[in-house]
Amino acid sequence: MILSMKIFADTGNLKDIQAIADLGILDGVTTNPSLLAKEPGDFEDNLKKICEIVKGPVSGEVTATDYKGMLDQGRRIAKLHQYMVVKVPLTKDGIKACKTLSGEGTKVNVTLCFSPAQALLAAKAGATYISPFVGRLDDISINGMEMVREIVTIYRNYHFKTEVLVASARHPMHVVEAAKMGADIVTAPPKVIEMLYNHPLTNIGLENFLKDWEKAQAVKA
Ligand code: G3P
Repeated sequence: MILSMKIFADTGNLKDIQAIADLGILDGVTTNPSLLAKEPGDFEDNLKKICEIVKGPVSGEVTATDYKGMLDQGRRIAKLHQYMVVKVPLTKDGIKACKTLSGEGTKVNVTLCFSPAQALLAAKAGATYISPFVGRLDDISINGMEMVREIVTIYRNYHFKTEVLVASARHPMHVVEAAKMGADIVTAPPKVIEMLYNHPLTNIGLENFLKDWEKAQAVKA
């Protein structure tokens, strides 16, 4: 049974991660080679720093594409910190590497998932997380959230322990839809997490409350 909807930040930026962690709503972080390439400094040091800030699961991705290379890199990433999760792509070699690394007790996030069939294989290979990319499917006019719905159904049918980590979230509705479907986690860029707070009626309402309060104080004075 899912007890809580987790929110991960999809970024390698230490300042942004610290700011979201300070809000008290951050459960984890996902990175990928494109995100880490944007940040200064050594990527392994950065991953360690992220783990220290988040104190929760932090995904670091292998760049090797063959089984042996993925194992070597994955084992190295796993050793960086107790919170590290090894991210592997959903390829034949990635699934094989997921099975081996999971068997060694390493948490594995299988990424670049674009179909329920792929997600089924990741679960069978013992993945801790499956990352279906919703925004990139939407980009090619295929409903990304429908894929998530199907994955959630399949995993529930067989009580797979693999957590559904909705990735490539581009706007608050991806987050809301994921929560309605009972996905375990959404990872979103800092700007999308920021958008979750915003509602014009909240701002207008607050402004009016404060104006009324000040008016009453002025009358009493
Ligand atoms: O971390 C993987 C994923 O969330 C990437 O998102 O927006 O580049 O499709 P995006």
